[in-house]
Amino acid sequence: MPKVKKASKSVIKLVKGMKDILPNEQVYWELIRNKVSAAARDYGFQYIDTPVVEATALFKRAVGEETDAVSKEMYSFVDQGGEKLSLRPENTAGVVRAYIEHGMLNLPQPVKLFYFAPQFRHDKPQAGRYRQFWQFGFEVLGENDPIVDAQMISLSYFILQELGLNVEVQVNSIGDDNCRPKYMKTLVNYYKDNKKDLCPDCQKRLLHNPLRLLDCKVKKCQDLAKDAPQTVDHLCDECNKHFTSVLEYLDELDVKYNLNSKIVRGLDYYTRTAWEIVETSEEGKLNALGGGGRYDDLVYLMGGRQTPAIGFACGVERIINKMKDVKAPLPENWRPDVYVATLGPEARKKALHLLLELRKENVSVSEDLAKTGLKGQLESADKKGARFALILGQKEIVDGTVLIRDMENGVQEVVDIKKAVKEVQKRLEHHLIAKVLKKSK
Ligand code: HAM
Repeated sequence: MPKVKKASKSVIKLVKGMKDILPNEQVYWELIRNKVSAAARDYGFQYIDTPVVEATALFKRAVGEETDAVSKEMYSFVDQGGEKLSLRPENTAGVVRAYIEHGMLNLPQPVKLFYFAPQFRHDKPQAGRYRQFWQFGFEVLGENDPIVDAQMISLSYFILQELGLNVEVQVNSIGDDNCRPKYMKTLVNYYKDNKKDLCPDCQKRLLHNPLRLLDCKVKKCQDLAKDAPQTVDHLCDECNKHFTSVLEYLDELDVKYNLNSKIVRGLDYYTRTAWEIVETSEEGKLNALGGGGRYDDLVYLMGGRQTPAIGFACGVERIINKMKDVKAPLPENWRPDVYVATLGPEARKKALHLLLELRKENVSVSEDLAKTGLKGQLESADKKGARFALILGQKEIVDGTVLIRDMENGVQEVVDIKKAVKEVQKRLEHHLIAKVLKKSK
């Protein structure tokens, strides 16, 4: 054995706000990925990956220079070639860039895309808020019909429900270019006399982004927002008609929703329908697990032709935290079909081949070939929940046989090693049939 060196160097730690996703958490990730992929398949969405790094100008233009995500939280840098780049704070801008760049404008519309990807925001780390976090998101480009708004809202709602979460939709309409400028004037007018009572951020927002005054989390700003004019009371006829239809379709869909005039979203590209999927914390605070909205002007703003669009994204870590809180049901742990146990050096060599053969036939296997004691190996087989163990000892090597042990009742049989895989498959089939029959009784 080589001499073990004692630790002497300092340990380099995880970067603040980042998170390792350890093996014991992967069951949640796999479940969410599977649910998202199944929903995407059922609703006709295709998967897209865009790069983590994009031109800083993309986010400035798409998300908005005055938004917190861009002005305060973006990881930006100049690369060796002098290009101004940023880690994406969200994925819609990249998807829209790709849609325009790859001529998806000329495909039959709508184009329906989804992603499952890490995002980066240099936010203040706290519970449920990370600097690298994952989102799954769905985007529909090239469709204006309000029925799609309702379908997207219900898609976001039902995915979270299927994950065992009791969530609610908060929905609003923030109008469009036609009615919003007038509404903004009314809003600024309302705040004019109370400017000094606003938090420093909101005093700036009043100049550049007055809509955001409505969802500020500072108490005194929230108090003032209570009586502020509401977007829905200032919609033009077209926006009003659109929103009324969205709500009618939502009623059809049995989605639990609340009208909430404070849902204005933190990113600049939204028009008309905006929503958040929230859960209520014990203190009664709304915690956003996802959010989205229409962005009918974004493709045009990014250099394409006018194309209506809508989408949403949900935060995977926040969903998992909530699933843990409510002890959401998880799928059964993976169990190997067969555990291969050995005794002696020849048996270990033979086992290497046996494992390959089993894997080739799609039999799921497990082993601890570096362990030498048979007792320890069988204990491990038991712990892993293996259905059968294949045991190879000196005697079996000499005889050209192997022992098949049923791990449930301990019954062992000797079989020809050449027929081991077939024998295992036969028993697994019987096992499966017996299980199905038991369930149907
Ligand atoms: P967003 O509301 O900024 O929207 O983010 C969506 C979700 O990502 C949030 O509801 C939250 O669950 C999660 N999230 C955001 N920031 C963090 C963070 N620092 N740590 C953990 N989770 C976080 C968007 O990003 C839009 N692109 C959604 C969209 C798609 N709109 C149209 N299409």
